[in-house]
Amino acid sequence: MYLTKEQERILEGEEGEALSKMLQLIVKIGEVNGAEKLISVNSAQIAGVSYLTVGDAIFSFFDMINKDNLKVKIPSWLNPAGMDMSRYKEMGIDSLFSKKQIQIIEEYKKLGIKDTLTCTPYLVGHEPKFGEHIAWSESSAVSMANSYFGARTNREGGPSSLASALTGLTAEYGLHLPENRKPELLIEVDAELESFADFSVLGFWFGENQGGKIPFFKGIKQLSIEKAKSLSAAMAASGSVAMYHVEYFTPGYKKIKKEDLTETIHFTEEEKKAIYERFKEQNNIDLIAIGCPHASKKEIKMIYNFVKSKQKKSDVDIMIFTSRRVLTDIETISIVKELTKKGIKVYADTCMVVSPVTRQSYRNIITNSSKAVFYLSKDKETNVFLDTLENILRRIVG
Ligand code: F3S
Repeated sequence: MYLTKEQERILEGEEGEALSKMLQLIVKIGEVNGAEKLISVNSAQIAGVSYLTVGDAIFSFFDMINKDNLKVKIPSWLNPAGMDMSRYKEMGIDSLFSKKQIQIIEEYKKLGIKDTLTCTPYLVGHEPKFGEHIAWSESSAVSMANSYFGARTNREGGPSSLASALTGLTAEYGLHLPENRKPELLIEVDAELESFADFSVLGFWFGENQGGKIPFFKGIKQLSIEKAKSLSAAMAASGSVAMYHVEYFTPGYKKIKKEDLTETIHFTEEEKKAIYERFKEQNNIDLIAIGCPHASKKEIKMIYNFVKSKQKKSDVDIMIFTSRRVLTDIETISIVKELTKKGIKVYADTCMVVSPVTRQSYRNIITNSSKAVFYLSKDKETNVFLDTLENILRRIVG
């Protein structure tokens, strides 16, 4: 791989062992993937934040980095943590977990990384620009960045996105190269897609059947940012899909040559129904979990509009997960107060998957996110069901 003199100098340890190790990681990943050189990136989004997922191993990593007092070279933000950073006691988080979680965030902050603690940086003022190279690691955000915004990022791991944050570099391979961003098959969407869950179901179906490929969707009639994030998250979860194109909606769709797409698959009402059927509610629900990916202001308002003239009629817990920035938005604050009065909890900084609380305290969970279904179902003791937001809310308010 071609390296500049400056990069060689860093690799040789002239700026300290820690930075050398960070660059070694990027170079190694690049070599494995056939990269010819390193390129600059404009931002990093770093996963590996929840103590539930990183455990104590992360502290030796921080010790290594701290020896050289490193700081990030580009704007860098964190993925969700394992708890709401101000209401963790109310969530039922134990003191050991909260202590470790606070410590992890402090360590990241020391490096100059912002504690946005969200998987939706693009909803809180960090929309990536068309064509810019970035190093993001949360899979749904990666797919949004590539597909909806037209930025360029591979699906980084937590350590490699941190390495990019500290060096400002990544290896040029995969989705950083235009030739790897072309669609590989055409998906004719014949089913009606209306709710966020419908988009999530399409994504889940595609990822499960054609994982790793880049699709070009035709037949989608509207694509708001909320629908795109549902689609992105589901495909990334069930099939590690990091990019897709949608006719009329994603940047560059006009340049796609249909004749290059030799394979066509149809997504019909039958496929849609089959997925809803598979995850249909079968037990008495004890938790409704909304906000995977983190809920936008619009979603929180939608929920409020639906429940405002109704009363919660069962003892099912309802949790909405969002970013701190959305939670503290001037418009959201009053809505959240009203939701709280109705017994609906709105938490920031965390989510139903990366917080231990969901699995510890609940056995039957319903959500409108296929990604949440995918990950929460890995715990064999937890039953997880999928439905549209409206259907879910209709059952519990009257
Ligand atoms: Fe975000 Fe948690 Fe879902 S990190 S995409 S809300 S699993």
